[in-house]
Amino acid sequence: MLPDFSTERLFLRPRTIADLDACLAMDRDREVTRFIAGPWADPKAHEAFVRARMLRDWGAGLGYWSIAARSAPDRFLGWILLLPLDDEGPDVEIGWRLVRAAWGLGHASEAARPVVAHAFDTLRLSRIVAGIDPGNAGSIRVAEKIGMRRDAAAPAGTGYTAFVMTRDDFRGIGA
Ligand SMILES: CC(C)(COP(=O)(O)OP(=O)(O)OC[C@H]1O[C@@H](n2cnc3c(N)ncnc32)[C@H](O)[C@@H]1OP(=O)(O)O)[C@@H](O)C(=O)NCCC(=O)NCCS
Repeated sequence: MLPDFSTERLFLRPRTIADLDACLAMDRDREVTRFIAGPWADPKAHEAFVRARMLRDWGAGLGYWSIAARSAPDRFLGWILLLPLDDEGPDVEIGWRLVRAAWGLGHASEAARPVVAHAFDTLRLSRIVAGIDPGNAGSIRVAEKIGMRRDAAAPAGTGYTAFVMTRDDFRGIGA
């Protein structure tokens, strides 16, 4: 079971199957999935994909958190994930996806911070990573704002820009 988190403006709780319709609606916005490969254009495959990811056990302390504003706790704003990289690990990846109406308010970085703290303080991970499309300037900025840096040692040729945060980086930002 994943812990709940709260921030100044947001609640994060484990994503459940009750969030399925909201997640599917979010993904159907082409701007939201513009930089992300997935079966978004095929409704059946899309639903099967998201449902399977909701029901899967990702390992202790890993999974997806749904985000809501404290001022509107029943309205789904998106999610933060902390998952085995490429579904396999051993690295652990952090990611974020918000409905377009929630963009530009600092929500993604605010929601990601307690998940980063969970990764290092509770799970005791040595590092977390993210792979971001080089054109996805907003997501790159989120990674930078929460203290990640470009990982020059990551394999090239994936089509994604690799970001990393180590335990020392995390301590360094005084989180
Ligand atoms: C990426 C995403 C999560 C950002 O959410 P958000 O709540 O708007 O993020 P934040 O407000 O915390 O931070 C975004 C930062 O990027 C900046 N930004 C946003 N779009 C930008 C752009 N096109 N060019 C440059 N900077 C941009 C914002 O100004 C902000 O930086 P600032 O606080 O220094 O001003 C959201 O746009 C999203 O869900 N996108 C679709 C899904 C996606 O691409 N997920 C990531 C896959 S790797």
